[in-house]
Amino acid sequence: MQLRILGIETSCDETAITILEANGDVGGATYRVLGNALLSQAHLHAEYGGVYPTLAKREHLRNLPILLDQTLAEAGVARGTGVDLIAVTRGPGLEPALWTGIEFAKKLGAEWQVPVVGIDHMEGHLVSALLEKLTADSFHLKACGLPLLALLISGGHTELVLMPRWHEYEYVGATRDDAVGEAFDKVARLLDLPYPGGPHLAALADKARKSEISSTASEIKFPRPMVHDNTCDFSFSGLKTAVLYKLRSMPRLTDNERAAIAAAFEDAATETIVIKSRRALRETHPATFVVGGGVSANTEIRRGLEVMLREEFPTVAVHYPDRALTGDNAIMIAAAAHLRAAAGLSDTDLTAQGARRLQQPPATH
Ligand code: KG4
Ligand code: ZN
Repeated sequence: MQLRILGIETSCDETAITILEANGDVGGATYRVLGNALLSQAHLHAEYGGVYPTLAKREHLRNLPILLDQTLAEAGVARGTGVDLIAVTRGPGLEPALWTGIEFAKKLGAEWQVPVVGIDHMEGHLVSALLEKLTADSFHLKACGLPLLALLISGGHTELVLMPRWHEYEYVGATRDDAVGEAFDKVARLLDLPYPGGPHLAALADKARKSEISSTASEIKFPRPMVHDNTCDFSFSGLKTAVLYKLRSMPRLTDNERAAIAAAFEDAATETIVIKSRRALRETHPATFVVGGGVSANTEIRRGLEVMLREEFPTVAVHYPDRALTGDNAIMIAAAAHLRAAAGLSDTDLTAQGARRLQQPPATH
């Protein structure tokens, strides 16, 4: 099924628009990015230490028309022509931010006489792990066996979801408090690193591991929360508090100690994710394991998961997103919309759902 899809993503602090030319279906899809524009507001939220919803909304409102013009120009597409479908993130995310994307999509759909569908942000992250880059502007969908187990780790979510059949989801585990990306960001803030702190913290931890600081790091050890309970659920708020107490006990922190704490935190987060993923893999016996979401960019977490999978689950195929697609983007939203359309599913409910969980499709056409 060939479709030209305009994808819109505004769930958090990235405004993104893409025009994707899609062919095929879940058995073998190919994608060409005709135009793509993305603007991060992270620097504006930095002073709040997190995303400030009203500011995010204002920035999305201002940037959407500008990014649309850029995307259309790059794609060589005139307004109102050459687009078959508009796909917009409906949730989960910050509701004021989601609404700006949805309202923008609805207006365009009415003006261009093109159908508009709502897409789940986490389904986008799942699909992104299966998009393999072919050239600078093209991807194909990797063949994957089902059931597929997805570890979705981002600033707002930490969950293990089983997909027994395409577009059908069963929850295996989720965080009971903070998301892992949120824990990275909060600990980074405690260490005076810029927002969003995840990548900065990872870089500092890497520095510690690559130098003799690592011997100091081995003396600092943080708890692996909830690893002894018999669920696949996570909890990261205690880990963040453990770092806070450690820092309070070390009032005059040297640079090396700071780096050692970053490494010890990252080790604890990684091992927790590995332990819970191992439990989920044992319980669900998937053919494929994918990791998606902003935190899937983390090298230590990838390394930890890879060792565990190679040693204990050698027959499970593992996929991570291309580095360009780990964070929020509109390509994954358009690709997810294509796979739904190709499967005969279309969800036209355009209500922002901040806390939405991946669901069975409500409508089949
Ligand atoms: O998926 P995403 O872009 O936005 C949400 O849907 O939340 O994820 C953003 C999160 C932030 O918490 C950011 O700090 C984290 O992903 N992140 C990382 C890394 N790169 C981004 N966390 C750890 N290590 C990284 N390399
Ligand atoms: Zn995301």
